[in-house]
Amino acid sequence: MSEHALDSNGRLRHLITLEGLGRQHIEDLLDRACELRLAFADGACGPQLLRGRTIVNLFFEASTRTRSSFELAARRLGATVLNFEMSSSSTSKGETLEDTLATLEAMQADAFVVRHRENGTPERLARHAKRAAVLNAGDGNHAHPTQGLLDALTIRDRHPDFSRLKVTLCGDIRHSRVARSDLHVLGALGTGEIRLCGPAALMPPVDEFPGCRVFEDFDDALSGSDVLIMLRLQRERMAEALVSDEAEYFRRFGLTSERLRHAAPEALVMHPGPMNRGIEIAADVADGPQSVILEQVSNGIPVRMAALASLLGA
Ligand code: NCD
Repeated sequence: MSEHALDSNGRLRHLITLEGLGRQHIEDLLDRACELRLAFADGACGPQLLRGRTIVNLFFEASTRTRSSFELAARRLGATVLNFEMSSSSTSKGETLEDTLATLEAMQADAFVVRHRENGTPERLARHAKRAAVLNAGDGNHAHPTQGLLDALTIRDRHPDFSRLKVTLCGDIRHSRVARSDLHVLGALGTGEIRLCGPAALMPPVDEFPGCRVFEDFDDALSGSDVLIMLRLQRERMAEALVSDEAEYFRRFGLTSERLRHAAPEALVMHPGPMNRGIEIAADVADGPQSVILEQVSNGIPVRMAALASLLGA
């Protein structure tokens, strides 16, 4: 199975990664998210596209925003949602993940939303699923496709033409699945220039993103940038402490209001969360007029609605 198995109607069966998905599939998902955002605006009860369907959240790693966002998206579309608490699940009694999936599929689960600390787990489950769709909610440092989509939607709302944009990602890119999905979606949408910035130890291998410009000096990277995506130091994914001094990190790579002046006027400030104020971003910038961080959170719901509805043919 390729990562983008299509069914007989040319529809996506699973959403594992944005890599290679193609501009049309991405734009369709973003357009659908916009329609659903409008239909559910101001607390309106929009179309109950998933009434009678069952969505299972399988989160093997702590998550607040992504799990809640998927859950609200599914419930607002009328689905039944099952939250599988992995600490109390049968996998802790030795059952394989494949058997857990088969058991829940036998109970007519229609979709599985999977987060796992190991790269490849959602794809492995997708291979095993007979009928259900699998949505990757973040695996290791591999991919976080709905985050990439919601970031793209947040940017597109202000800047529909990506070819005119300079977008900078700053921070722990090496360990970030968000960065990878952002880079895939930004590439697919034809972004003019993509810049990566951070300490050398936190950069991805040089040949992983050949089209990007790499900077070690944050002020150089910021210069003229239209969009800044700040990333957290993902210590839980570092085998060793690659950044020993957080104050020094903030001095070199923290986004402060003085620094922000180097970027294009009205540059968008983004962060996927969870945010560490005073480490990668100053509190006043996170809360400031250029920050669209809470818009990213809001956009997560229609994006996940669009992904669930599209995969389930609704
Ligand atoms: C991210 C994640 O878990 O991949 N958060 C999120 O889903 N919005 C980023 C992170 O953990 O830093």
